[in-house]
Amino acid sequence: MFGSIDLDRIDISQNPPKNEPERQYYYIAKCRKIIEEKSREKGRPLTACVNTFGCQMNARDSEKLIGILELMGYKITEDEKADFVIYNTCTVRENANLKVYGRLGYLSNIKKKNNDMLIALCGCMMQEPSAVEKIKKSYGFVDIIFGTHNIFKFAEIVHNRLKSDRLVIDLWENTDIIIEDLPVERKYSFKSGVNIMFGCDNFCSYCIVPYVRGRERSRKPRDIIDEIKRLAADGVVEVMLLGQNVNSYGKTLENPVSFAELLKEVEKIDGIKRIRFMTSHPKDLSDELIDVMKNSKKICKQLHLPVQSGSSRILKIMNRKYDKEHYLELVSKIREAVPDISLTTDIMVGFPGETEEDFLDTLDVVRKARYDSAYTFIYSRRTGTPAAAMEEQIPKAVVKERFDRLLREVQTIANEQIKRFEGETLKALVEEKNGQLEGFVTGKLDSGITVHFKGDEDLIGRIVNVKLLEAKGFYYIGEMMREKD
Ligand code: SAH
Ligand code: SF4
Ligand code: F3S
Repeated sequence: MFGSIDLDRIDISQNPPKNEPERQYYYIAKCRKIIEEKSREKGRPLTACVNTFGCQMNARDSEKLIGILELMGYKITEDEKADFVIYNTCTVRENANLKVYGRLGYLSNIKKKNNDMLIALCGCMMQEPSAVEKIKKSYGFVDIIFGTHNIFKFAEIVHNRLKSDRLVIDLWENTDIIIEDLPVERKYSFKSGVNIMFGCDNFCSYCIVPYVRGRERSRKPRDIIDEIKRLAADGVVEVMLLGQNVNSYGKTLENPVSFAELLKEVEKIDGIKRIRFMTSHPKDLSDELIDVMKNSKKICKQLHLPVQSGSSRILKIMNRKYDKEHYLELVSKIREAVPDISLTTDIMVGFPGETEEDFLDTLDVVRKARYDSAYTFIYSRRTGTPAAAMEEQIPKAVVKERFDRLLREVQTIANEQIKRFEGETLKALVEEKNGQLEGFVTGKLDSGITVHFKGDEDLIGRIVNVKLLEAKGFYYIGEMMREKD
């Protein structure tokens, strides 16, 4: 539907339609009228800035917000001195929340100079009643609060605020609906995230995501394939299939489909040259998927497989549903099927009750799995999760010391791993002009590793052959090779 919609043909003098997404297009048309008037008064276009915290899921949601804002007539800017600022928040670790509170202090100063400015907060943190209470109490200048389940209603929510001049709070506790065909504006012309599922049912004992993102629900394969076909027709060559646990995709659909089957369908789409996905949960990684990866020409040779801990004892308390041996078996199976695969992971230290011995198991997995890179986190206590109530929270100094040791190990191995492709010529998708090196562009290899090489901006979006001259820590310096005649 999006793309063929003509906002001028929507009769906004009528009552709003009941059906979605028609209802939201109606509100977009209504907002557009108001924004048009305001911008006439000001003698300039109104600007909007969306600032995203957190994961790829949030990044994709922000693209949806931007799609709607653009249709409403806002000019999108990265400058927070805008007429409308939206923070799409994350709450996975306490730091994420602290960042938002910090930035809000700064925004309040900007708002003092522009009374008409609107500030909206959405995303995962808004699904936590305690955070919303705090904002209402201490950040009274915020105009709109909404959550993750009703993001599709953004236009209607904005309209409510434009009409009322009072704080609008619209929060849902959960949802089982997925609204298709809303506008979305991609950040990159040549690559795109694609949601294949929402929510999470795994309830790892440390994690807040199932509480703030709700129950797991998969999009229908047809909707996903149609979206990717449209993206391909619009010049996208790389897609990243997104879900908290993509390996359990499709299990709850009326006609169940496996993730491996979905991948095979995506592979068939002309124009798509690279397929990535995240995140894979080790408990659901099937032999069928490994087989599809092995035989695919488009699926990138990269797998993000969060381990969290190497200790079977801790993994059990984390409710991860695999143990150290099973995880390492998976790693060997994958390496055997796809020998040059690049493995990445997430690791946490300081989970309640973690002993030195448990931690040594984590280091052992790091040494055996040999990750190309790893995101390392210090356990953060999230109110409402089972782990928050566990006794034996680990003292900060112990955690810090373990974290430093882990980081050293991860970095040493990553530095060794990256050398394995030195001297080879591999394909890179050129993503942007290099910000630091004059006359250079930056590309991504199949493995996800970055390479910088001499080249013009007009290469952006193209896949080119690059000789990897030198590995520098976590990136390469390369040289573009001419295409063979
Ligand atoms: N669904 C993904 C992870 C999403 S959250 C998965 O299961 O792998 C991203 C990462 O944040 C997690 O992999 C975990 O390492 C980290 N994380 C989640 N909750 C955390 C917490 N309470 N403290 C510290 N790190 C956490
Ligand atoms: Fe959190 Fe676990 Fe779900 Fe990942 S799988 S989002 S870590 S509960
Ligand atoms: Fe954060 Fe929500 Fe993602 S809590 S990590 S933005 S799902």
